[in-house]
Amino acid sequence: TDYRRAHSIDELREVARRRVPNFCFEYVEGGSDDEVTLKRNRSVFEEIGFVPRTLVDVSARSQAIDLFGKPSAAPFMIGPTGFSGLLTREGDLALARAAAFAGIPYILSNASTMRLEDVVRRAGGRVWMQLYLYRTRDYAARLVDRMKAVGVEALVVTTDSAIFGNREWDRRNYARPLKLDLRNTIDVMLHPRWIFDVLVPHGVPRFANLGDMLPPGQDSVQGAASAISKELDPSLNWSDIRWLRDIWPGKLIVKGVMCAEDAVTAVNTGADGIVLSNHGGRQLDGAVSSMEILPEVAAAVGGRLTVMLDGGFRRGSDIVKARALGADAVLLGRATTYGLAAGGEAGVAHAINLLKTEVDRVVGLLGCSDLSQLDAGYIRWPGHPEV
Ligand code: FNR
Repeated sequence: TDYRRAHSIDELREVARRRVPNFCFEYVEGGSDDEVTLKRNRSVFEEIGFVPRTLVDVSARSQAIDLFGKPSAAPFMIGPTGFSGLLTREGDLALARAAAFAGIPYILSNASTMRLEDVVRRAGGRVWMQLYLYRTRDYAARLVDRMKAVGVEALVVTTDSAIFGNREWDRRNYARPLKLDLRNTIDVMLHPRWIFDVLVPHGVPRFANLGDMLPPGQDSVQGAASAISKELDPSLNWSDIRWLRDIWPGKLIVKGVMCAEDAVTAVNTGADGIVLSNHGGRQLDGAVSSMEILPEVAAAVGGRLTVMLDGGFRRGSDIVKARALGADAVLLGRATTYGLAAGGEAGVAHAINLLKTEVDRVVGLLGCSDLSQLDAGYIRWPGHPEV
């Protein structure tokens, strides 16, 4: 089977599971600790019901939105995922190209395996850059200069990872840092197509944007994130965001906000946007889903900045629910990553098309012709205090 026969993101995930070695799939799939938040990110959507309108002429429908004064073809974008080069050759570029082709933004991870400059030059479209803050603050200053040089629109600073989450699958798959265990080594041998796609052309993927910061030899993605996790700075705080605001003239987006009070602080710090996120259930296990805090955050910021969110979005209906509850746009994490693992750039394009088709159908079935008509009146969420 191949990605073209996948009728949903869930089916695309099954294709991905077969296509790449186990350690790659589990790297994408896993959450932290007991994966309670990972599951909650999905189960929350089952609690939220639609209240459709009937007998509305929905023959002309649009899902285009405005994002920072420019059109986006859909109410979602591709969020940052590290080590994409582990899933297919030039994985970051495949994601960026599929996003550009679909008319939606792409956020390049700070832990990408391709250089920012190459992705911007070769993909075109709207490439935003995600940043982690490390103990070496010069790194951020240098990256900001590089972003200015290539004309990046937005800087997305991830704030939920000052301490690295407990991802036990990584420890399970590796005998020691940078070394797969025997079971996974054998499993890699059983994936010759992946070996010829990923390993043969370029060798083991490397952190293309971090090479000058990590210790020599530690920039390889073998052993996943252990090298990066040592460099993350637990002293990260709002004064760092103020500092970034001073040195970065473009759009500044804070990713990892999880409460209304912090959202208001983001407004007061001069941020242009926030991403409500628990990092796909990979950081604080037990955290609520970003959907649960969306209504109160939207009310607290009152349109003073762009509200985005992520976590568990696998269906067009999930995205429509977020729009109805006050989100401007959704970030995709695993949904497009499954597409990448299943079929490279074409697989990502397939994932985007599935979701666009679903959003269009759901909006029509709700009795709306465009997303601006949606509000909480189309939602029933028993037990939620704000809805
Ligand atoms: C991530 N995420 C992430 N976030 C970030 O700011 N920088 C990064 O490098 C990464 N890397 C990364 C790798 C992988 C494999 C995953 C699954 C996630 C988090 C990501 O941006 C997003 O917040 C979540 O993926 C959203 O949840 P879903 O859509 O995956 O359920």
